[in-house]
Amino acid sequence: MRLMNKTAIITGGGSGIGRAAALLFAHEGAWVCIADRNETDGSRTAAEIVAAGGKAFAATVDVSKFNDVAEMVRLANATWGRIDILVNNAGYGIAGNVVDTSEADWNALMATNVNGVFFGCKAVIPIMAAQGGGSIINTASAVSVVGIYDRAAYVASKGAVAALTRAMALDHADQKIRVNCVGAGTVESPYYDRLFAASSDPDKLRAHLEQRQLFNRLGRPEEIAAAMLFLASDESSFCTGSTLFADGGWTAR
Ligand SMILES: NC(=O)c1ccc[n+]([C@@H]2O[C@H](COP(=O)([O-])OP(=O)(O)OC[C@H]3O[C@@H](n4cnc5c(N)ncnc54)[C@H](O)[C@@H]3O)[C@@H](O)[C@H]2O)c1
Repeated sequence: MRLMNKTAIITGGGSGIGRAAALLFAHEGAWVCIADRNETDGSRTAAEIVAAGGKAFAATVDVSKFNDVAEMVRLANATWGRIDILVNNAGYGIAGNVVDTSEADWNALMATNVNGVFFGCKAVIPIMAAQGGGSIINTASAVSVVGIYDRAAYVASKGAVAALTRAMALDHADQKIRVNCVGAGTVESPYYDRLFAASSDPDKLRAHLEQRQLFNRLGRPEEIAAAMLFLASDESSFCTGSTLFADGGWTAR
């Protein structure tokens, strides 16, 4: 019960890493708002938590739209009277180098992966400051610090998430708001299920993804959620501005 009596918003909580974090946080005693643009998946995660005896509700939110995010934060605060934890996790990747990537695809990806983090923090920080503190966790990536081929927009977006995490840690330390991010390695999630399904050679793709991590396997969403739990809980009370890598040793090379 490491999050007993805490309240948490988790964006992208309908699937993959966000879903695993929502289930784990609720198991540890938190009241959870699952914010996802996919209403079906968000509601399913909330229903799973409630069926297991936890407390959760779903909010249909597109994190690339400030009005959606502001309404999500208002609703959570009106429901609970405080917001202790915000996990800015909604995001996705696209293939392409800078020449192949269209302006529209670049802007759309940045709108979710980067603006979504900005909007979430912009809306929640005044509430956390007024209540005396909070913990913000952003989903960054191993690619926040290493390059990969053919993912220019995604790599840029995750670099920005880690940089913004550090900037906000400085700006809001005095308000007792801790801001950290998780540098996730490649994780078996519905996102990768879709990539494997679309690949002409899924076995080769899987082998490539596995071998770049020291454990020679993909991670599990629960392994990223565990890192998020540490950053959300008071156990990480001396951590701010950090990137906690849960990447199977990828970035140690
Ligand atoms: N899977 C990996 O290997 C991996 C590695 C490093 C980082 N990440 C990051 O982890 C996060 C979660 O990825 P995942 O693998 O669990 O993906 P996923 O596709 O399984 O889940 C992502 C969820 O985010 C939601 N979402 C996407 N855009 C949204 C938006 N604009 N507004 C609201 N919700 C939105 C989707 O509906 C989905 O439910 C992403 O930020 C991703 O970049 C994933």
